Amino acid sequence: MVGSPDPVSFVGLRFLVMASPEPMSTETELPVGQVNPPSPRKQRILLAATGSVAAIKFANLCHCFSDWGEVRAVATKASLHFIDRAALPKDVILYTDEDEWSSWSKIGDKVLHIELRRWADVMVIAPLSANTLGKIAGGLCDNLLTCIVRAWDYSKPLFVAPAMNTFMWNNPFTERHIMTIDELGVSLIPPVTKRLACGDYGNGAMAEPSLIYSTVRLFFESRPPPTEVMN
Ligand SMILES: Cc1cc2nc3c(=O)[nH]c(=O)nc-3n(C[C@H](O)[C@H](O)[C@H](O)COP(=O)(O)O)c2cc1C
Repeated sequence: MVGSPDPVSFVGLRFLVMASPEPMSTETELPVGQVNPPSPRKQRILLAATGSVAAIKFANLCHCFSDWGEVRAVATKASLHFIDRAALPKDVILYTDEDEWSSWSKIGDKVLHIELRRWADVMVIAPLSANTLGKIAGGLCDNLLTCIVRAWDYSKPLFVAPAMNTFMWNNPFTERHIMTIDELGVSLIPPVTKRLACGDYGNGAMAEPSLIYSTVRLFFESRPPPTEVMN
């Protein structure tokens, strides 16, 4: 709605600052025979896409992050209409709902959404659709992505970058759902106002992948890197 206030503009943005930091060192060299102390390892970044048209930028987002950390990706069924799998970085595994079920056959087998939740240092859902936003806010978990979120450990950061038509963004449900996930500790990377894929002009376009990357990266720059004993 042109001229009317954005109903969710009051939602606080926690970590939105541009940055272009240098890559972090991941190796520690010691003389032969000495036991390695805990050494930094790469950040483990779980990127997730939902069925917004902005998922056409998901491969680009994966490239941004894979230059910095170890990336794994999750895609909803709807998002696969927009993702160019061939354009993903070669070392990025893309998990779908099919993998969730094909990787499990009997008691004792690993459950994919729990393993990915354990593995990740951070999760970034970009784009976040209105549908998945609503499901997360309501605690629903009917696919791989929402099961990971439903099991999420909120001592680890979870970022979302919503992307939807302005009519959807301005709908009263959006404000309710954004407030709920904010209370959970989810960090919002807000959408921007521009000409949308459908031709409408307004708020709801996903933040650019470079901005999403720099926002997450800046958050980690203020924390010590994760360590792992390499003996
Ligand atoms: C061409 C097309 C574009 C769409 N773009 C968006 C969008 O930008 N944002 C959104 O929230 N939903 C969009 N949708 C609707 C979602 O794809 C739909 O709600 C779907 O159920 C989302 O599923 P997911 O949240 O599991 O990925 C679009 C649908 C179509 C057919």
